[in-house]
Amino acid sequence: FRSEGGGAAALGGISYHLVPNDDRGMIDPDAVAEAIRDSSNHHNPRTALIAMENTQNNCGGRVLTPQDMEDISKVAKGNEVPLHIDGARIFNASVKLETPVIELVKDADSVSFCLSKGLSCPVGSVVCGSNEFIEEARRMRKMVGGGMRQAGFMAAAGIVALDSMVERLAEDHTNAAKLALGLSNLSGITIDPESVETNLVFFEVDYPDRAELARKLESQGIKGGSSAKRWRFVTHYGVSSEDVDYTLDVLGQALAG
Ligand SMILES: Cc1ncc(COP(=O)(O)O)c(C=O)c1O
Repeated sequence: FRSEGGGAAALGGISYHLVPNDDRGMIDPDAVAEAIRDSSNHHNPRTALIAMENTQNNCGGRVLTPQDMEDISKVAKGNEVPLHIDGARIFNASVKLETPVIELVKDADSVSFCLSKGLSCPVGSVVCGSNEFIEEARRMRKMVGGGMRQAGFMAAAGIVALDSMVERLAEDHTNAAKLALGLSNLSGITIDPESVETNLVFFEVDYPDRAELARKLESQGIKGGSSAKRWRFVTHYGVSSEDVDYTLDVLGQALAG
């Protein structure tokens, strides 16, 4: 509901019902049950889907466990509402939890995940579900202009990603933890390093002209800053442990200067 230009509402005619989440991005299963509308009352929108995200971007890349997913799926099944998992970064969750992805998604009706982001493909996301669901998804994709011809050469990169880029996500997590710890030692930065579980590092920047600070960093090859108070740095295949040292060094000097 925060992204994709509000596409679900604009193109799908879907009205969202937001259920508050905790710091990890988990939502209380009772609150989910409470949010399911009584479809026999014609005032109510029909509840057509429960959607969860794992890892949770806006909560700092925190992970939801198989138990979390099971708790939500019980509500979904009990109310005959399908469950979708937005697993854009599900492989980060899997590596962090040392748990196969299947354990995190086995109770879902559909799952999507990105081959880009941590898995390093130039483009690509995958949607998984029943044959019937995929047929419908293909039709919808065509309708919104997302169908591509001769896309196999791009899909090949996805196979490489799944074969060779999953286990190395642990390096990104190690680098992110190191970055978070380093940031916590810089004055002007507020971060709880304990909250960094995967490759996303969110922190608050106290600086008079943050846009200028971001420009200064970008001119030295460090992206992620903006005029906003809350910044996000991401570690990935192209970011080494030495790059983390460099980033901390440059940012520390810029904040002091
Ligand atoms: C949580 C989440 N879901 C979905 C997406 C969409 O991914 P794509 O544009 O590859 O379909 C993103 C991408 O930023 C994301 O962060």
